[in-house]
Amino acid sequence: MRRLLVTGGAGFIGSNFIRYWVSRYPDDRVVNLDALTYAGNLENLSDIESEAGYRFVRGDITDRVTVRGLLEEEEIDTVVNFAAESHVDRSILGPDAFIRTNVQGTFTLLEATRSVWKDFSAAQRFLHVSTDEVYGSLAPDEAPFTETHGYAPNSPYSASKAASDHLVRAYHQTYGMPVVTTNCSNNYGPYQFPEKLIPLVLLNALEGKPIPVYGDGMNVRDWLYVEDHCRGIEVVINDGITGQVYNIGGENEWYNIDIVKLICNRLDELQPGTAPYRDQITFVKDRPGHDRRYAIDSGKMRDELGWTPAHDFASGIERTIRWYLEHREWCDRVRSGEYQHYYEQQYGQPAD
Ligand code: NAD
Ligand code: TYD
Repeated sequence: MRRLLVTGGAGFIGSNFIRYWVSRYPDDRVVNLDALTYAGNLENLSDIESEAGYRFVRGDITDRVTVRGLLEEEEIDTVVNFAAESHVDRSILGPDAFIRTNVQGTFTLLEATRSVWKDFSAAQRFLHVSTDEVYGSLAPDEAPFTETHGYAPNSPYSASKAASDHLVRAYHQTYGMPVVTTNCSNNYGPYQFPEKLIPLVLLNALEGKPIPVYGDGMNVRDWLYVEDHCRGIEVVINDGITGQVYNIGGENEWYNIDIVKLICNRLDELQPGTAPYRDQITFVKDRPGHDRRYAIDSGKMRDELGWTPAHDFASGIERTIRWYLEHREWCDRVRSGEYQHYYEQQYGQPAD
């Protein structure tokens, strides 16, 4: 039996991970520490909130007293750090929160964990969830990112994640802390906050709004179904080697514009409007510092830990589209309040 502290468990990937973990390991203790920013929603976990082993604590990873208290009180042996500011466009509009949570927060979590765990044991594990964006941008013909690719972050978001990765590495090298880091590609699936590309396109299409495509729409992302990512984190917790980094990707590269068209075409079939949804596609000013291409080489995960993605894009995107069609009220609720202000700043027009 393990005792997990999951940070950021009310967000997109964290809530999918907690649901996955509770179903796989019902006897484990899972403590979810989340500050409930605009991106954190307890509704994401309403189906498991009464599970015996699950506990939610509202708190901030930059608050060392809270983190220490939880680690001690709950006798945590496994930390999984999802908590972050995660949206590149927001990091361009206002980087402060990214430095605070992603850098200061990860540092605080590391320090608190080091002080509580003291002499590290083989049963302990600190898993830091990071991103392929720390490696920067690939040329069209360049090989996908391996774990040894140099760091070259281009946005305040990716720079803050890179800084956190370096701290995690240093805690292993210097103190022998039992850390592992995972760098994954773009996730998609249920419960993703609708500021990210796939849910934003879906909802703008259905709501008759312009579908904003940055630049020429030819940027490439490597899409990973969120449940495959959760399984990847599971195998790294169980079998990963301390101090190692594991890249987790979907081996599934798409031009943005092709994904946008694919979603529009499928919506035309599932919920036809008066005109084809692709008529709403609007090319807008490019994101500053926009990385051209990300792609992950998951060879290490495959060869050393036996992990491969189980969902192909056709099945993953179908499940995702249907989930959003069936959860329109969730979308309305998470987009009320603060999101309206962000949308207006980012796209120059009201969300409603
Ligand atoms: P998200 O924005 O959906 O959720 C982040 C969660 O962290 C929210 O619940 C929020 O309330 C919480 N949080 C934010 N600041 C906090 C703080 N100071 N203290 C405690 N909780 C706080 O993010 P996500 O998409 O689920 O991403 C999770 C992790 O995975 C992040 O570390 C992100 O960098 C990484 N990642 C995400 C993707 C992706 O495609 N979504 C890809 C690669 C890596
Ligand atoms: P996003 O989901 O924000 O993830 P990331 O920037 O972390 O990869 O964006 C995915 C891609 O889609 C990225 O190349 C930017 C682009 N994009 C748009 O073209 N329009 C949009 O409105 C958004 C949010 C993203």
